[in-house]
Amino acid sequence: MSVTIHRHGDILIAIADNPPVNALSAPVRLELKAAIEQAAGDASIRAVVIACAGRTFFAGADITEFGKPPVEPLLPELVDMIEGSDKPVVAAIHGTALGGGCEVAIASHYRITVPSAKLGTPEVKLGLLPGAGGTQRLPRLAGVAVALELVAKGDPIPASVAKDVGIVDRLAGETSLLDDAIAYAREVADIRPLPRASQRPLSPDPEAVAAFERANARRFRGFEAPAANIACVVKATGTPYAEGVEFERQQFMKLMFGVQSAAQRHIFFAERKASKIDGIADDVAQRPIARVGIIGAGTMGGGIAMNFLSAGIPVTIVEMQQDALDRGTATIRRNYDATAAKGRMTAQQVDRAMALLTPTLSLQDLSDADLVIEAVYEEMSVKQDIFGKLDAICKPGAILASNTSYLDIDVIAAATKRPQDVLGLHFFSPANVMKLLEIVRGAATADDVLATAMALSKKIRKVAVIAGVCHGFIGNRMLEPRQVEAMKLLLEGATPEQVDRVHVDFGMPMGPFQMADLAGVDIGWHRDPNRIESIRDALAAEGRWGQKKQAGFYDYDDRRTASNSPRVAEIIEDFRRKTGTPQHEITDQEIVERTLYPMVNEGAKILAEGKAQRASDIDVVWIYGYGWPVYRGGPMFWADTEGLKKIVEGLDRHGFDVAPLLREKAEQGGRFTS
Ligand code: 3HC
Repeated sequence: MSVTIHRHGDILIAIADNPPVNALSAPVRLELKAAIEQAAGDASIRAVVIACAGRTFFAGADITEFGKPPVEPLLPELVDMIEGSDKPVVAAIHGTALGGGCEVAIASHYRITVPSAKLGTPEVKLGLLPGAGGTQRLPRLAGVAVALELVAKGDPIPASVAKDVGIVDRLAGETSLLDDAIAYAREVADIRPLPRASQRPLSPDPEAVAAFERANARRFRGFEAPAANIACVVKATGTPYAEGVEFERQQFMKLMFGVQSAAQRHIFFAERKASKIDGIADDVAQRPIARVGIIGAGTMGGGIAMNFLSAGIPVTIVEMQQDALDRGTATIRRNYDATAAKGRMTAQQVDRAMALLTPTLSLQDLSDADLVIEAVYEEMSVKQDIFGKLDAICKPGAILASNTSYLDIDVIAAATKRPQDVLGLHFFSPANVMKLLEIVRGAATADDVLATAMALSKKIRKVAVIAGVCHGFIGNRMLEPRQVEAMKLLLEGATPEQVDRVHVDFGMPMGPFQMADLAGVDIGWHRDPNRIESIRDALAAEGRWGQKKQAGFYDYDDRRTASNSPRVAEIIEDFRRKTGTPQHEITDQEIVERTLYPMVNEGAKILAEGKAQRASDIDVVWIYGYGWPVYRGGPMFWADTEGLKKIVEGLDRHGFDVAPLLREKAEQGGRFTS
C-alpha cells in the first residue's frame, strides 16, 4: 500500500509512504483518491488529514512517469477532487512540499506545517510549470508578485515565509505535526463555506509582472519555461479558474514534449547518477574527514578552503611566504564580507567560518589533517616534491589530493609510498562558487578514498563527477579542441566578436575569446615577447593579457565593459597575411560545427577510453563547470538532439578525425544518452 488510512475518531487520516521522496506516482494518486472517496461516503467522518511518512511531504509528480502513457487519476484531477471535497481537507506538511506536492497542499482547504518545512514549485527547473493548478491557485493565495517568484524561479520558501504570504495557515510543533493537524481538522470541521483557493478573486497586476520580467530578463535568457510560467500567472488574473487551468494544461503539455524540458530532466537525473561510482558499493566504509589541509593560498587554494570553512570543517592553509599567506587569508575574509554585504551570510557566520581557518608557513602542521589538497603551480616537479614531503608528514590513512587541471595523477601518486590514498580533486574557478568537482581516479586510488571524496563533495555542496587520468580530464580535455578551432577560425576570416556571439547565442555565459580574456591570455604563454608564433603570442607580447590589463581580445574600460579592439583586428590581419591563410566567409553555422561538434567528438573519445563513466557525467561536467546551457542538456545530450549523423557529417566535412564510437553510433542510429 502506498497510502494507509487511519481513523482518529471522526477524522480520517491518509498517510502516503512512497520512498524515498513520496513522489505522487500512479498508485499514490489512486489511493489518495480512494481516501477522499471513502471520507465522502462515510457520514461519521467530518474532516480529512493528508500527511506523508518518511523524510518529506510529496516532493512532486513522479518525474519518471513523464513522457510515458498517462495513468488515471491524473494529478490535476486528484487535486481538483481534494479541493472539491465537501469535508475539510488539511495538508500536514513536513520536509519539502514541492511541485505537485505543493499543489496537493494548496488544493487542500487548510495547510499546517512544521517550522522546518519548505514549500515550492521547482517545475521550472525541469523546464516545466506547475501543471496541476499551481499557477492558478498560488497567485490567488499569495498574490501575483509572490506567485511569479515561486513558479518562474522555482526556489522553495521556508514555512514561516509561506505563512507570512498566505500559503500556509498554521505552524505545528516540530515533533507533533500529526497531532496538531488532527486537532486543527477537528477545529475547522464545521466551518462552511470551505476555503477553496481556486475560488478566491484575483485582480491583474501588470506592474508586478513588468517589474518581475525586468528584474529577471538576464536569468531567463534562452529558457522557455519561465515565460510560460509567467503567462499562466497572468492568465490567472481576471480569468475564471476553469479557463486559467485549461491554459495551464496546454502550456504544460507543450513544455513537457519540448526539447528543453527533456534536457533539464536529463540533467536532474544525470546529476544524481553522477554520484554513483562504478564498481563501488553504495555502503563502502568512508574515512572520517574532520580537518582539511590546503597547500597554496592563491586564488584556487583560497577558494577551495572557503568550501570547507562554509561547511564547518576546519582548514589549515599553507603558504611559503608570510606576505602570500596574509594576502590569501585577507582575500578569503574579503570574499566572505562581500557575501555578507549581499545578505547571504550573517556577520556571525563569517566570523565562525574565519575562526576555523589556521594559516601557517609550515607543511608540518598538516600532520593531523584527514585530507590534504595541493593547489600550487601547475608543474609536475613541484607537485612531486610536495607529495613526497606529504608522504613523510601526513598521518596514515590521510587522503592526499591534487587540484591539478591537467597533470597525471598517477605520476604524482608515484612520489608517495601510498598511491592508494592519492586522487585528483579538480575544482573549477572561482572554486567557492562553481559547483563542479572532478574527482580524478588514479590507477591505484582506493575505493574508500573515492567514496569519501564523493560523500564530501555533497557536504561542501558540489556536484562531483568521476574522471579518469588523461590530459585535462573530462572538462578541459573537451575545451581544448574548441579553443584550437576558435583560433583557426580567426585566421580564416572570423572575428572574436562573431565567434563569441555564436557561443553566447547558443546559451554559453561567454565565448572562447571572452573566456580567454577572463582567465588571462598569458596563461601558458612562453614569456618570450620576441617569439610570436600565434595570434595569442602576439597579444601576450603586447601586454594584452586580458581583463586584468584592460586589453586582450577586446578592449576594456574601467568597469570592465568590453569593446571591439581595432588593434586586435590589425594583429589578426597581420597574421592572416604572414601565414597566407586563405580567407572565406564564415557563417554562424560553421562556427557551431567547428567549435561544438569537436567537443562532442572528444567526449566520445573520453567515453570510449573509459575516462568518464557515462555520457551523462560529461553533460554534468559541462553544465556545472563551464555554464553550458542546461536547457540544451550538456554536449552529449545536445548531440543526440542534433542527430549524431549530422554531427559526423559536419566533422567529416571539416576534416576532423571522427571518434570511432561516435561514427558507430551515428551509423547505427544510436544515442549517447537515454
Ligand atoms: N520523481 C521521481 N523521482 C524523484 C523525484 C520525483 N519528483 N524527486 C526525487 N526523486 C528521486 C531522485 O532521482 C533520487 O533517486 P536515486 O536515489 O535513484 O538517485 C531520489 O529520489 C532521492 O532524491 P535526491 O537524491 O534528490 O534526494 P535529496 O534528499 O537530496 O533531495 C528533493 C530531495 C529536494 C525532494 C529532491 O529530490 C528534488 O528536488 N526533487 C525534485 C522535486 C521536483 O522537481 N518536483 C517537481 C516535480 S514536477 C511536478 O510536480 C509536475 C506537477 O506540477 C504536475
